[in-house]
Amino acid sequence: MASAPHTPASARTSTELQSVLWFDPAKILIDGQWRPCASGHVLPVENPSTGQVMGQIARGDAADIDAAIDAARHAFEGPWGRTPAAERGRILMEMSKLVQQRAEALAMIEALDVGKPLHQSLNDARALARYLEFYAGAADKLMGTTIPYQHGFTVYTLREPHGVAGIIIPWNYPMQILGRGVAAALAAGNTCVVKPAEDASVSTLAVAAIAQEAGLPAGVLNVVTGLGAEAGAALSEHPGLDHLSFTGSVATGQRIQAAAGRNVVPVTLELGGKSPHIVFDDCDLDDAMPTLVGACMQNAGQTCSAASRVLVQRGLYDEVKHRMADMYRGLVAGPAIDGHDLGPLISARQKALVGRYIEWGKAELNLAAEGSIRPDASPDGHFVRATLFSEVPPDHRLAQEEIFGPVQVLIPFEDEADALRIANGTVYGLIAGVWTRDGGRQMRMARQLNVGQVYLNNYGAGGGVELPFGGVGQSGHGREKGFEALYGFTRIKTVTARHG
Ligand code: NAI
Ligand code: MG
Repeated sequence: MASAPHTPASARTSTELQSVLWFDPAKILIDGQWRPCASGHVLPVENPSTGQVMGQIARGDAADIDAAIDAARHAFEGPWGRTPAAERGRILMEMSKLVQQRAEALAMIEALDVGKPLHQSLNDARALARYLEFYAGAADKLMGTTIPYQHGFTVYTLREPHGVAGIIIPWNYPMQILGRGVAAALAAGNTCVVKPAEDASVSTLAVAAIAQEAGLPAGVLNVVTGLGAEAGAALSEHPGLDHLSFTGSVATGQRIQAAAGRNVVPVTLELGGKSPHIVFDDCDLDDAMPTLVGACMQNAGQTCSAASRVLVQRGLYDEVKHRMADMYRGLVAGPAIDGHDLGPLISARQKALVGRYIEWGKAELNLAAEGSIRPDASPDGHFVRATLFSEVPPDHRLAQEEIFGPVQVLIPFEDEADALRIANGTVYGLIAGVWTRDGGRQMRMARQLNVGQVYLNNYGAGGGVELPFGGVGQSGHGREKGFEALYGFTRIKTVTARHG
């Protein structure tokens, strides 16, 4: 038999992944032990740039979730519950240092597994390090209060961790979302059971391995990989949980909240949006232009806070449209490890979902411009062209529904009232960007926009670990990031002493 003339692509990608891994991704972490899941079943690890299978993760289920919750409970009631806040902070700081040291390996894992262009996955790894650093520093600065009360009483509050926190992570920013959840939960003194997304689990396992190296005691952070309907559902329904955090789709968020409701545990939901840029005639357009496009095209539009609607006042509308269209024509999608503007979407399913919106748009709307796909990109990669539609009616489904792909809509508006009506006219409310030099208008818009974050003459502020983040309406509730996340991961106990 003749030997193969070259290494097949599948073997190449699996070798690339194996060469950066220092742990076995087919194992889950429970009580400090790496083990196969109870059923022994596995799921494929796919490279979205090529469609190739690079390895396997465990397909954990309810049995593994039971074991993980037991371990987390044991750790909470045992050593972790007695660990001083400053020591919790030191361990998180050590994790942060190790994440920084391994940032390039983590970025490569994410580029291969999630399809993120390398510069973006490196940014995610650094953001994870920054979350760990921020919450490391905050751990011993979380305090209760004393409350003036009647004569003869002393009243104070204790800020206590909930206990066992369940954290369900989506595939779009695995490291950042892991960071903002786990770092805050641990800093506040909780223990965690994490269920990463089935198509993007490898970096979470890597971070769990790093946590062990950093000295996090057994059972404090447990990771069970598996399907949403199996491991995810088992985690969200588990009566042993004390708090649940979820980032993902509205439909799954509704199930999660119902499950948390049955167990009467607090839940934080971050469910995406249809966030607007609002561009007024008096803005500094040269300053705004790169952000108008970049804030949606980042991660190929698979971002909860993607600015997928661009509302432009009439006086600037044509100019914005032409300048954005020019930029779109230059946007290239290609394999993540080559660092293009856009990587692939996460899966064939996501590509099909986004493709339907593009078809509806092409049939019913004005196509302003499209980008391209690198001609030699694998036909089995999940690439989608950057696509811009213009003069989109605000009630059109492309202006109302979260697409979660590289698709942006341009909507003209007349005045401030019109802009507000359109901006607030979806079921979502996550973030908004307002571009204007008029200070009074900035303040009015900031007050009246129905969102969790408003950006004036910027958008997203590079992720802003310090900045409380979360939605209103179907974008969810509860706040992550900043100090607010620590309040979410703790509860208040009021102690009232009568001493005469
Ligand atoms: P999803 O919401 O189903 O998945 C997110 C996470 O939830 C994954 O870890 C998944 O395994 C888990 N999950 C799924 N079903 C579950 C269940 N019944 N119980 C517990 N956990 C469960 O999102 P999916 O299907 O991957 O993406 C579909 C759409 O969701 C996207 O097109 C996008 O619009 C939206 N989405 C929004 C995100 C955001 O950042 N807000 C992130 C990911 C998706
Ligand atoms: Mg993958």
